[in-house]
Amino acid sequence: MKLAVVGSINIDQTVTAERIPLKGETLPGGSLRYIPGGKGANQAVAMAKLGAEVEMFGCVGDDDNGRQMVENLIANGVKTDHIKVAEGTPTGIAIITVGDHDNTIIVVEGANGLVDRVYIDSVKDALLGYDMVVLQHEIPLDTVHYVVELCAEHGIPTVLNPAPAAEVPMDIIEKVTYLTPNEHEAVLIFGEERSTEELLKAYPEKLVITQGSRGVSVGLATGEVLTVPARKTEVVDTTGAGDTLNGAFCVRISQGSSIPDALLYANTAASLSTEKFGAQSGMPTAAEVEKNLGDVK
Ligand code: RIB
Repeated sequence: MKLAVVGSINIDQTVTAERIPLKGETLPGGSLRYIPGGKGANQAVAMAKLGAEVEMFGCVGDDDNGRQMVENLIANGVKTDHIKVAEGTPTGIAIITVGDHDNTIIVVEGANGLVDRVYIDSVKDALLGYDMVVLQHEIPLDTVHYVVELCAEHGIPTVLNPAPAAEVPMDIIEKVTYLTPNEHEAVLIFGEERSTEELLKAYPEKLVITQGSRGVSVGLATGEVLTVPARKTEVVDTTGAGDTLNGAFCVRISQGSSIPDALLYANTAASLSTEKFGAQSGMPTAAEVEKNLGDVK
């Protein structure tokens, strides 16, 4: 199975501090690093590290950051043949603060904002050759919906990780194969009236809600709600944990695993990714996930 990601490519400018600063507060920083990121690129790298054949579709600027980010994807085994290099627009940058087991992220979209319908039409033939297409919300939402519709017309399964939080139209929810929000994103999409359990039961085997250290839940066809608990871990940096979970989930589903098995695998991969600094550097290999699969709370 071949997987495609249509999404963002960022360079993460990550500073560590004792904790996340309060509004208006200045804190001393520990280290400042420039490392590969972007929800799309992170998910593609997570998949490749787990052994999947994956191509990244997206856009970088014609600058050193863009060249480094593409080189990084290639070094991780991700295909990059159709990444657009835009002149006059910088590569996306995320400004990240990591402290006290938490983070804050501000994204300056740069070239990610140029992933539009025109770009998708230019790569359409290649994109439609994939067995599953994975999307997030860090490129224009119009493009996300356009790709979901295109894939639905061609019978290609899609996974939409609606991060950062934004509304998802009902017809798009119907067309995606899996929707994987965290709890906050789920509230924005579905409103506050229905509980997580009610939502999961309303969208069985489609809606997967991640709940941080409490694990990940899905409604099963039997009407039950399954929660896969989080694995015990020594957290260094949670940046990219959601991306690892999504990438790993897609890999396992595309390999024919059941949803519960895929979520156990994805949850284990995500927790392993938090044990190292950076969005991508802690992402595990398939062997590392297999070794820790039984190790849940
Ligand atoms: O999900 C983590 C990612 O969000 C970071 O790598 C950053 O680039 C932002 O896109």
